Amino acid sequence: MSKKIASARISEASSELLKELNNSLPFDKLLYREDIEGSLAHAFMLSSQCIISKDDFALIEKGLKEILEEIENGTFSLDGEDEDIHMAIEGRLTAKIGDAGKRLHTARSRNDQVALDFRLYVQKNSLILAKLLIENIETLINLASKNTTTLLPGMTHLQHAQPINFAYHMMAYASMFKRDYERFVSSYERNNYSPIGCAALAGTPHSIDRNITAEKLGFKEPTLNCLDTVSDRDFALEILFNISTMMMHISRLSEELILWSSSEFRWITLDDRHATGSSIMPQKKNPDIPELLRGKTGRVNGNLVGLLTVMKGLPLAYNKDMQEDKEGVFDSVKTATLALKVLNEMIGLMQVNEENMKRACMIGHLSATDLADYLVRKAGLAFRDAYHIVGNVVNLAEEQGVDISELDLKQLQSVEPHIQADVLEVLNNLNSMNARESKGGTATIRVLEQIEAMKSWIEKQ
Ligand code: ARG
Repeated sequence: MSKKIASARISEASSELLKELNNSLPFDKLLYREDIEGSLAHAFMLSSQCIISKDDFALIEKGLKEILEEIENGTFSLDGEDEDIHMAIEGRLTAKIGDAGKRLHTARSRNDQVALDFRLYVQKNSLILAKLLIENIETLINLASKNTTTLLPGMTHLQHAQPINFAYHMMAYASMFKRDYERFVSSYERNNYSPIGCAALAGTPHSIDRNITAEKLGFKEPTLNCLDTVSDRDFALEILFNISTMMMHISRLSEELILWSSSEFRWITLDDRHATGSSIMPQKKNPDIPELLRGKTGRVNGNLVGLLTVMKGLPLAYNKDMQEDKEGVFDSVKTATLALKVLNEMIGLMQVNEENMKRACMIGHLSATDLADYLVRKAGLAFRDAYHIVGNVVNLAEEQGVDISELDLKQLQSVEPHIQADVLEVLNNLNSMNARESKGGTATIRVLEQIEAMKSWIEKQ
């Protein structure tokens, strides 16, 4: 029996069941680029430090580059029996170049190798997701710019509360996405340290230079402590948390889009490209896309909790449990990438039904707070007294079956004689919205400021 390359003291071939449980190649083959990139940097460092010869390095470099090509053009299949991507590539290299291939693993363990490959993957994808977030923010800004006077009822408890404009609502989501972006970038910075050269757990007696590999791979510097480095999966947990929080925001927006496209609202119309029909009801146009975005938030949360749970009881350093770190991250990254692309397309093409939003503002006495504020200013009433008086005005409007803004001056004065003709301006929904011009408020001038601030922030990214 030929010896497995990573099993010096195992004499029996592995049981089929062990292979099924143990082998990570079926999923970690996704890391082939990172594995080759890491090995190229490691081999370069080994030769710079005269740990391997220049000739060996030349062979290794050529061999690894060929393997990359073979994988990409399908001539080297990653569906074989190898335990994981690291063994598959090392095995292929040795088959191609002989002894030089066996020298590649000097001063390295799969423990730092996997920590490197996985970190490179997480780092790269953090930046991809951050960039997609910026695209979504730009689309929201664009939508907002067209709707700075589009009135809709702002809600609390899903009940009509005060009039706002649609730009304000979209800029709320843009603000969430900005924080999501910042989380991906700050995680990237925090984790931008190179794991390679930590070896199994304790470092190595070879005279390696971890600065060389760190620099070659684009890291700020090597990590500080090798025991921590091979045990650490915080970087993976961070991207999972960042994705969960971002998906939670996407899910809330999706929920609103679902609600707003229902017959009860009709505030937006999703483009036909982002809706589906029913197999039985010919009239249906279903909001499957936002529903799926909302639904997929569940699985990314599962991935986060899954890895937190895997990690919580592990003694230092590497334990095979940690092989369970990858599939959830791959799944969350894939889900989040698609979600951001789809969301961007959907909000870019949806139609905003301004008239329906405006009509909805006539339900729910949205300017009631304005009337209370008016009485405070005009008649010097304490806010709480004014609040109760307006309650009576609302009751009158309800009796009449109209909105508070539709009562005439006489009706209003029958409840509170201090009310004068200028109240009619105050009760108007557009004026009510524009009256909220405190910093960060909904008034059109404030929303325009928010849009400008967001645009200049984007320019600095
Ligand atoms: N396939 C392993 C993983 O994904 C690589 C590290 C294996 N290290 C070891 N000592 N068995 O975690």
